[in-house]
Amino acid sequence: MRKLCIIGCGNVGKTLGRLWSQEKVFTIGDILNRSEESGSSAARFIGAGRPVAGIAEMSPAEVFLIATPDDQIGESCRALAASGLLRSGNVVFHCSGALPSADLVSAKEAGACIGSVHPVKSFANPAESVKTFGGTFCGMEGDDQALEILRPAFEAVGGKTMAIDPQFKTIYHTAAVMVCNYLTSLIEIGAQTYLKAGLDRETAMQVMEPIVRGTVENIFNSGTVRALTGPIARGDHSMVAKQLSAISDWNPRFGNLYRDLGATALELSRLQGTASSDSLAALAELLERD
Ligand SMILES: NC(=O)c1ccc[n+]([C@@H]2O[C@H](COP(=O)([O-])OP(=O)(O)OC[C@H]3O[C@@H](n4cnc5c(N)ncnc54)[C@H](OP(=O)(O)O)[C@@H]3O)[C@@H](O)[C@H]2O)c1
Repeated sequence: MRKLCIIGCGNVGKTLGRLWSQEKVFTIGDILNRSEESGSSAARFIGAGRPVAGIAEMSPAEVFLIATPDDQIGESCRALAASGLLRSGNVVFHCSGALPSADLVSAKEAGACIGSVHPVKSFANPAESVKTFGGTFCGMEGDDQALEILRPAFEAVGGKTMAIDPQFKTIYHTAAVMVCNYLTSLIEIGAQTYLKAGLDRETAMQVMEPIVRGTVENIFNSGTVRALTGPIARGDHSMVAKQLSAISDWNPRFGNLYRDLGATALELSRLQGTASSDSLAALAELLERD
C-alpha cells in the first residue's frame, strides 16, 4: 500500500484520510497542520497518522495531499519541494476547485508529478462527510502519472471521477458558485420581494419552499427546457412588462436581474416551442438592457 502524507488536514483532509485508511487505499503517514494539537486531533479522527510539528519532521511518502486553504497551497508546496523529501514519481495533489494543478509547479520541478482532484461536495462536518462521500463527483486534472494513482484512489471510496480542462478551471468552479451560492441569493431576493408585497419573512419562506423544491425536482427529472413555466414560457408580453416595470421602480438592481435571468428563460422558452415567435421577439426587445 502506498503511503500518503497530508499537509493541511481539516474538513477535506480528515474525510479523505479516514476513508482511505478504512478502505486500505493508502497508509496514512505524517499529518502537518498549523498546530500540532490540530494534527493530533486529525490523526484521532482518521484513526491513523502521525502528527508532526513542521515539514522538517516529515518522512518520505509516495503521495502528498496539500489540503490547506487555497491561499496556503502554493506556499506549502514550495516548502515541501524545498524540504528535499520529494522523490521522482511521487504524487503531490490538492483538492481545490478554483486553482489549477499547475500551482504545484514547485513540486514538479523537484521531480514529483502533480494533480488536482476537486470533490464537488460541501465538507462542513467530516463525520457526516465520511458517511455521504459515496457518489460525489470529483473533477480531476494534472499529470497522467498522478491521475493513474489518484483516479482509482477516489473511486475506491465511492468518488465519481471526471476529467476537467485546467484551462477552464475558473469557469468550472464558477458553475458551482452560480448554482449553489447564487441560488441562495435568488431565494433571498424572492423573500425580499414577498416582503415588499406585504408578507412576513416566515410566511415568505413557507410560500417559497414547495415551489422551489418542486421546480428543482422538475429540473432534475425533466431538464431545464421542460421545467420552465410562467409568463416567459407562455410568451405573455404584457405580464412581463408589468412585472419588469414594478420591480425596476422598486429596486433597479433586482430589475436588472429580472431582465438578465429572463433572457435565459427566453432561450429556454424558444426551445420549448409553446410561445409564438412574434411574442418571443417582442419579449427579447423588452428584456434587453437600455
Ligand atoms: N470545505 C469544502 O467544502 C471543500 C470542498 C471541495 C474542496 N475543498 C478544498 O479542500 C481544501 C481544504 O479545504 P478545507 O475546507 O478542508 O479547509 P479547512 O477545514 O479550513 O482545513 C485546512 C487545514 O489546513 C491547515 N493549515 C492551514 N494553513 C496551513 C499551513 N500553512 N501549513 C499546514 N497546514 C495548514 C489547518 O490547520 P489548523 O487546523 O492547525 O488551523 C487546517 O487543519 C481547499 O483547497 C479547498 O478549496 C474544500
